Amino acid sequence: MANFNQKIKRIGVYTSGGDAPGMNAAIRAVVRVGIAQNLEVYGIHSGYVGMIENSIQPLHLRDMANIIQRGGTMLKTGRSTDFMKPEGRAKAAAHIKAAGIDACVCIGGDGSFRGAHALWEEHQIPIVGIPGTIDNDIFGSDKTIGFDTAVNTALEAIDRIRDTAASHDRLFIVEVMGRNSGFIASHVGIAGGAEEIFTPDGNVTVEKAIEHIKEGILRGKTSSILIAAEGQKPGRAYDLADSIRKKSGMDAKVCILGHQQRGGSPTAADRILASRMGAAAVDSLLKGFCDIMIGTEGERLVQVPLDVVTKTEKKSQMDLISLANLLAT
Ligand code: F6P
Repeated sequence: MANFNQKIKRIGVYTSGGDAPGMNAAIRAVVRVGIAQNLEVYGIHSGYVGMIENSIQPLHLRDMANIIQRGGTMLKTGRSTDFMKPEGRAKAAAHIKAAGIDACVCIGGDGSFRGAHALWEEHQIPIVGIPGTIDNDIFGSDKTIGFDTAVNTALEAIDRIRDTAASHDRLFIVEVMGRNSGFIASHVGIAGGAEEIFTPDGNVTVEKAIEHIKEGILRGKTSSILIAAEGQKPGRAYDLADSIRKKSGMDAKVCILGHQQRGGSPTAADRILASRMGAAAVDSLLKGFCDIMIGTEGERLVQVPLDVVTKTEKKSQMDLISLANLLAT
């Protein structure tokens, strides 16, 4: 956490990394709260890519009309390899300063926050972060913008798969996103009544899953759904299906939900979270706080230093996985 003394007149806002439903609601809140506080607000397109390419434009109240319900990000987003180098960051910082932008709001995940922290440390650009990622893997915030929507989108698909699995007495493996984390998997697993949940940090083995499925069959179960987090290796669901086939002779259908989990209209919970966080980010900058992320602790908004956010791993909720297991009998 840092403080800066300069009075701010113009702020920039950008979205970075993977898009997440609710990012538009966050942009809207930053712009409208900023303007209500007599600030000028500029949009930086495609995250750090746009900063390096000097793609920066003013945003007005009416530009925010009709976006709260839209998925994706109206500012576009990107992952910049140039920004990882000091020369790239120097170019980006020079463009921000030349545009007269005194401070920024960064909406993104941990990679985006590492960039924001570097811009403060190396070029003294004050930035406040808002956690926007479907993965929910950001330390310092119970919830990230987009997670609730992604869980509900995946759940809708799983419910449909359950219909066909039950009709054909089949075993399905459904792979969900989450990069290296298992938050989407554990949440859809429990909400969708999954028989087993594989996460990168979980302890479910193929042998354990087979045993669990066989016990279910003995109790009269005719179909099962296993959830696999994509982990470090997307496509892992196919490896699991192979392994189950080799070890038990059981055939498993694979369904990879993929990028559909990132799209769609944000849920009410995500819109509300994004609106609150956007307003709090502008408020923090006006009070002279920067190098922080706005997070949630229960219902409360909190400020967490960016270097703590980016250096600490958010632990998975293993209790949810064991509960899902207990309930899927
Ligand atoms: O971080 C969001 C996320 O959707 C992850 O769940 C996934 O691993 C990754 O982004 C995919 O990124 P890309 O769309 O760049 O392939």
